[in-house]
Amino acid sequence: MSQSNSQIDIDKLTSLCKRRGFIFQSSEIYGGLASTWDYGPLGVELKRNVKDSWWKAMVWERDDMVGLDAAILMHPDTWRASGHLENFTDPLVECSDCNKRFREDHIDSIVCPECGGKLSDPRLFHLMFKTHMGPVEEDASIVYFRPETAQGIFVNFSNVVTSTRKKLPFGIAQVGKSFRNEITTGNFIFRTREFEMMEIEYFVMPGEDEAIHQQWMEDCMDWYSVIGIKTENLRLRKHEDKELSHYAKATYDIEYNFPWGWGEIQGIANRTDFDLKAHMAMSGEKLTYFDEISGQHVVPYVIEPSLGVDRAVMTLLVDAYTEEETTTPSGKNETRVLLKLDPSIAPVKVAVLPLSRNEKLAPLAKSVYDEVRRSSLVSGNVQFDDAQSIGRRYRRQDEIGTPLCVTVDFDSLDDDCVTIRERDSMKQKRVSITTLTQEISTLLNGD
Ligand code: GAP
Repeated sequence: MSQSNSQIDIDKLTSLCKRRGFIFQSSEIYGGLASTWDYGPLGVELKRNVKDSWWKAMVWERDDMVGLDAAILMHPDTWRASGHLENFTDPLVECSDCNKRFREDHIDSIVCPECGGKLSDPRLFHLMFKTHMGPVEEDASIVYFRPETAQGIFVNFSNVVTSTRKKLPFGIAQVGKSFRNEITTGNFIFRTREFEMMEIEYFVMPGEDEAIHQQWMEDCMDWYSVIGIKTENLRLRKHEDKELSHYAKATYDIEYNFPWGWGEIQGIANRTDFDLKAHMAMSGEKLTYFDEISGQHVVPYVIEPSLGVDRAVMTLLVDAYTEEETTTPSGKNETRVLLKLDPSIAPVKVAVLPLSRNEKLAPLAKSVYDEVRRSSLVSGNVQFDDAQSIGRRYRRQDEIGTPLCVTVDFDSLDDDCVTIRERDSMKQKRVSITTLTQEISTLLNGD
């Protein structure tokens, strides 16, 4: 029996992530730094797979997209022009009894949700982190850690158009770190102060923006199916006027049904010509596009699909986490914990497991491992594991979401065959070592 999302215990998931090397508390040996997390050996593989899948779907498979990797630190005028210096704030309230702070728009009570104490009037709290550039710490040397990657794209609009000769409509994609001094964080990696974003600024002719906005919602939703997220756990929600960012004409959020309720994983905004016009006004540079058909210079409108890599990882972990009641070969009931990750996203694609550490088995098991790891038919991380009983090793691989285990046993020495075991069905199949990598490729990619 598998459980519904509301039954998933985030503490259990967090502890699995730590135990198996997905995600660790940052600076743990010093007591940790609030809401910052480090990705361990399996976490980096998972995150890399998410970014690669997104880049493939959003850039490589389309002919209207190019990439960019802009610097995190930008000229401070960027943030004056974009409106972030003035508007990138959240309303903060503080309890006069326990001194806890909350985002006013995240709580529904007029008293402190923790102790019932009196809350202060809201004050606007600025979310950008500041630092100083150069040796002198004065106001003139202040620079900001970017709170979104988008502005790096807007300021490079003309550079990209000139160097690529792209015609409207076209988009620029970027993946990179962003920073926000959030008032409240939490729910593991859902809301943190340092996070990675995958953003697209898609430039269109004014007037074509609304239809293309609709198309992007479909394209974004499709990608969640590609990475194996269950569609029944997703929904689209339109922002009410009061929720809209200072730059947006309309925004839709893709939300996921997390254990604590529906939460945003992606925003898809119509930013109009707000940013390009603002940067033209501040810099005095032309950020227009010459439309050969009308013979006019136009300022394009922008549709912006934007999501957090860490939120995508959180979504994948929750969606994949499964507890199943099973019976061991000796008849004992036990709970099998597994991550039903799509093979394209799983951090380890295949684990090669010799039945035992017997010295006769080791050379064959190692050569199977080398062959699978180096095969061009198997793209991704392959593990070798010979510690503990085979049953325990299967459970360990289930818990990290490995789709296939290959077991090398004593019969393999005579028949040149190995056993492939599938994670979800636990079905086993005997295959010849000569066709093993082809079999694996078929099972992983469905081709
Ligand atoms: N450029 C548009 C923009 O920044 P946003 O809705 O503020 O829009 C986009 O952020 C996405 O970035 C969110 O949907 C979420 O996935 C992710 N995100 C935002 N703040 C985050 C945080 N504090 N921690 C983790 N991810 C965050």
